[in-house]
Amino acid sequence: MSSQNDDAAFGPVDRGLFRRVCGRFATGVTVVTTTRPDGLPHGLTVNSFSSVSLEPPLVLVSIDSRNSVLQDLLNGSPFAINILASSGREVSQRFSAPLDDRFEGISWVRGVTGAPILPDTLGHFECILQKAVVAGDHTVLIAEVKQLRLTEAVSSQGEPLVYFDRAYRLLG
Ligand SMILES: Cc1cc2nc3c(=O)[nH]c(=O)nc-3n(C[C@H](O)[C@H](O)[C@H](O)COP(=O)(O)O)c2cc1C
Repeated sequence: MSSQNDDAAFGPVDRGLFRRVCGRFATGVTVVTTTRPDGLPHGLTVNSFSSVSLEPPLVLVSIDSRNSVLQDLLNGSPFAINILASSGREVSQRFSAPLDDRFEGISWVRGVTGAPILPDTLGHFECILQKAVVAGDHTVLIAEVKQLRLTEAVSSQGEPLVYFDRAYRLLG
């Protein structure tokens, strides 16, 4: 690395500003769901989703290494990435809140791989973990898509839930 990359040359990046600039990148919102060793479903709200590769079909999510769901995801049991519709704001809040049972009152089903699937989404991927890369305080999970579904008719008429500037938004 050249000296231009030294911390001394630039000074530390302000964490608050880093979060705010990251927040200027509008994303959709997903809920990543998997199964705990005791068989119960577990999940968390994630907006760090990205598609990675078409052949083979790979996707990634970046998970805070302190999050309790991470260990279940690393265990290798199939997980689903559920893409929230505009009607999914409460679901997003629920799956990012410190609740004992985030699935309470939600009519989820098991997908083809066994991963928990949420209702009323725009679609979902069912994945198997391929690689986990520790990057700073997060762990990047790269996973192969084994099953996927595009929801044709949802109550929200196909509109996504959008997250921008640390707030939920709707398109348009
Ligand atoms: C819109 C939104 C997007 C989020 N995206 C991520 C993400 O990409 N990665 C992550 O680790 N946490 C993300 N979070 C925070 C987690 O959902 C939250 O920390 C979660 O409750 C952790 O749960 P756990 O400790 O039970 O695993 C997001 C939260 C919100 C509201």
